[in-house]
Amino acid sequence: MQVIEKVQALRQYLSECRQDSIALVPTMGCLHAGHVSLIRKAKRLADVVVVSLYVNPMQFGEGEDFEQYPRTFEEDVTICEAEGVDVLFHPANLYADDGVNIGLHVHEMDAVLCGASRVGHFDGVVTVVNMLFNIVQPNLAIFGEKDWQQLTILRRMVADLHMPITVVGSALIREDDGLAMSSRNRYLTDLEREKALFLSQILQKMQALAAQGESKQYILAMGLAYLQAADIELDYLEIRHEHSLRLSKDMPALGDRIFVAATIGKTRLIDNMPLLKILENVA
Ligand code: PAF
Repeated sequence: MQVIEKVQALRQYLSECRQDSIALVPTMGCLHAGHVSLIRKAKRLADVVVVSLYVNPMQFGEGEDFEQYPRTFEEDVTICEAEGVDVLFHPANLYADDGVNIGLHVHEMDAVLCGASRVGHFDGVVTVVNMLFNIVQPNLAIFGEKDWQQLTILRRMVADLHMPITVVGSALIREDDGLAMSSRNRYLTDLEREKALFLSQILQKMQALAAQGESKQYILAMGLAYLQAADIELDYLEIRHEHSLRLSKDMPALGDRIFVAATIGKTRLIDNMPLLKILENVA
């Protein structure tokens, strides 16, 4: 495996692979089993796999954890090597020396869910992913479904900007007890980790209510009551359409997805599941 830090060196390396298909797996490092599943999917779908590792300052807001974000470079290299990654792209900085002057802006889709409380976050994500796409020029790029809003926005970016790249989603990976895997889970104390389990549990309870034919309004009210009783500092618990991210008040339907975000201790966690589990699997 090659570890490459400079854009020019990466371009040079990839210029010799252009007859093969190239998959990009963008990451911020601190790799875990969720990332490994993205890498394995990339290896199944393409000849050459590039993993990028860059903690993107533009997607962190003021008071967020940019400085503290876990950096585990040596472990990340070992994982990528073991998984047969061809190139680990690890740039020191992707922005112009005088700061960010040109960037992309997301409309509407970032006004809800995580975008509502993390103002500017998705502008940072689309800007850096656009840079990575320009540098690597992959045939496809793989993103985890845990960050569902991110995946949805990136699909729109590729469609709206006519980019010749296929965005592939990869299923959310959970710990054995159901906690969605995240680089931020390592911030949790034992007690906080127990509390964090309420998030996946509430999503499952809401799925069960949907399977019993309850209305979305009722399902949400029950979900909120459950989280309140668990004393969870909730950011949002919502049912939205999985592509448009819009709300609808009707009965549960195919394409509805439950989204939750909460702060446990000092750690912000997110999770999501389809509201109608069985129907979605059939689809
Ligand atoms: O999902 C992430 O880790 C980041 O948002 C991404 C896509 C690598 C962009 O910095």
